[in-house]
Amino acid sequence: MAKAIVHSPKEIKALRRVGQLAADTLALVEGLLKPGMTTADINAIVHEHTLENDARPAPLNYKGFPASVCTSVNEVVCHGIPSDRVLEDGDIVNVDVTSVLPARGGFHGDTSKTLYVGEPSPLARHVVEVARTCLEIGLRQVRPGGHLGDIGAAIQQYAEAKGCSVVRAYTGHGIGRTFHGPPTVSHTGIRGTGLRLKKGMTFTIEPMINLGHWEIDHLDDGWTVVTRDGSLSAQFEHTIVVTRDGVEILTLPSSWEGPRRITYDPSWTP
Ligand code: MF3
Ligand code: CO
Ligand code: CO
Repeated sequence: MAKAIVHSPKEIKALRRVGQLAADTLALVEGLLKPGMTTADINAIVHEHTLENDARPAPLNYKGFPASVCTSVNEVVCHGIPSDRVLEDGDIVNVDVTSVLPARGGFHGDTSKTLYVGEPSPLARHVVEVARTCLEIGLRQVRPGGHLGDIGAAIQQYAEAKGCSVVRAYTGHGIGRTFHGPPTVSHTGIRGTGLRLKKGMTFTIEPMINLGHWEIDHLDDGWTVVTRDGSLSAQFEHTIVVTRDGVEILTLPSSWEGPRRITYDPSWTP
């Protein structure tokens, strides 16, 4: 079974810092997004804001990825490459920001949201709101002694009950000094199975939810992942750490006034 790195309080402090930077960068994009912008414009905003904060955009040159952020529009599931594509009223776009702070141990913060461009159709709103809730459901499963399978099981049950499907081919991942490490965090699964969680483990939860079937295809640019049936897809992602009684979200923006920690509550329902 895949192991996971347990981070020290000092390391978690650095993860908190870089996580907040990634989240602030995403919030900056959210505040500026409007119809007529291109996904390359989003890339420029992310790239500049990251450098201004003495950080590095982790996607740039990662396994040859050619940009500083992933922008995934409509039927694109993930790993969309920013381009001169103009965003139109009614589009949905997932913006996935990962920052690294070299001066603070080289830790990573990874977070994404699917944003509405103008006014969404009812179906677009459905898949986006299901995906948003799936991330919250996943977060609410995390506690020491719990299993990784609890996260996937809860997400899959909700998404399928809402008539959507969960992408299998891409998962959440351990994160720290490396961008993608163990464990693999599946967004489907069986409760009570998989790795047992311990305080200090850090990983992402990032369910990709399709309006139609879960099968995906790759475009021949080598990166873009699309739904095989052409249906809309949405995703939300946080980087988290397991705490003594639940979870702390490391990728909330500095403007966030709500709680950053959630105490595990087995009676919680969405
Ligand atoms: N940020 C993505 C994730 O959540 C990974 C993007 S890899 C890239 O894991 F190379 F496409 F940037
Ligand atoms: Co990730
Ligand atoms: Co990401």
